[in-house]
Amino acid sequence: MTQPRGCPDLRGVRICARKGEMLLQPVEIKPNVYWVGGIDWDLRNFHGYLTPRGTTYNAYLIVDEEITLVDTVKHYLADEMLERISMICDPGDIDYLVVNHVEMDHSGSVARVLQKAPEATVVTSSKGKEGLEHHYQTEGWSFEIMGSGGELSIGDRTLTFVQTPMVHWPDSMVTYVPEERLLLPNDAFGQHIAGHERFDDQVGWDLLREEAAKYYANIVLPYGTQVSRALGALGDLPIDMIAPSHGVIWRTYIDDLLQVYAKWANHETEPEALIVYDTMWESTRRLSTALRRGLAAAGVPVRVRSLQTSHISEIMTDVLSSRAILIGTPTLNNGMLPSVGAFLTYLRGLRPQKRLGFAFGSYGWGGQGAQEVAQFMESMGWDMPLDLMNVQFRPENEQLEEAVELGRKLGEQILDSD
Ligand code: FEO
Repeated sequence: MTQPRGCPDLRGVRICARKGEMLLQPVEIKPNVYWVGGIDWDLRNFHGYLTPRGTTYNAYLIVDEEITLVDTVKHYLADEMLERISMICDPGDIDYLVVNHVEMDHSGSVARVLQKAPEATVVTSSKGKEGLEHHYQTEGWSFEIMGSGGELSIGDRTLTFVQTPMVHWPDSMVTYVPEERLLLPNDAFGQHIAGHERFDDQVGWDLLREEAAKYYANIVLPYGTQVSRALGALGDLPIDMIAPSHGVIWRTYIDDLLQVYAKWANHETEPEALIVYDTMWESTRRLSTALRRGLAAAGVPVRVRSLQTSHISEIMTDVLSSRAILIGTPTLNNGMLPSVGAFLTYLRGLRPQKRLGFAFGSYGWGGQGAQEVAQFMESMGWDMPLDLMNVQFRPENEQLEEAVELGRKLGEQILDSD
């Protein structure tokens, strides 16, 4: 292997890393490719998405003839990243800084790196350059712009770039290292998990699938078409490691991951139902219970989420897999409850498609709440095989039996659509 400039003694690095567990060690994920990111143990809210497990911002240092850093970390973890880099080489020896995506959780430490390595060239897409110029004082920065298929030789390796617009911003691109069969896809394939584990098999598929689904549902869901296009563009590349910018690195469950991503991108769901509701005086809750009974009687698995106890970002994980979505609200001040309105606003932005919808609720006079929910579902293009159920004041037994029957009918529709 070519001796990398600026890193004359890699054995020293490894000795240094072994010296003490207190050090913020880099992790070698491929020969001379290191994870040097930051762990955000305390993050609990990522622009409205609850992250109870925290997250990581992953940056990768490729030590070749030209030392290349791929992405950085949120600004307050710059020192942690630089400490990790310093255990491998002098940060001032970085030649290239690849910015796959401008969002500040990844570009927030670009300026700090360039302070250390003012001669380094920033490698990004044309929209990436525009985005960086909007966010930072970029005067004096040198750029090299990459389009899809662009290549950058850094010595023994030639990095290849593929544009993946809207996964997650218009500027997004991925970096592929063919010599290592390594994909660095930035936001795609991420999960919000902080931990000492760096690889998928150290965590396990069940938990990772759940966190990858929550991440997809809350961040990537509107961009199914673009994800399918990106998967197509990447489909022929030999890949044995996917190292995203959040969470753990995939090396064992890659096939499982690509399968679920293809499914999610195509808005494919399971023959399951999700009931989301809020209630004022228990009437809407009673209707939700009756609907659940009917769906269960038809043999359909049902999840029930009260907006009083579940956060909208947690409910989105259930939306991702559910074929039918039933949404209930009382009428308050001639409209739906504000909690239901907030959920629908969030849902509208994330644009789940190919769903069956059913609106229900209760009212004293007027009854606009459930009507607004039904209008929302129509505006989303969902199939609505049954009319809404809107009950005045408290549902009588007869109306509850009617709700059970409606649940059963909807259940049959769900199974028929499979
Ligand atoms: Fe992880 Fe779009 O930022």
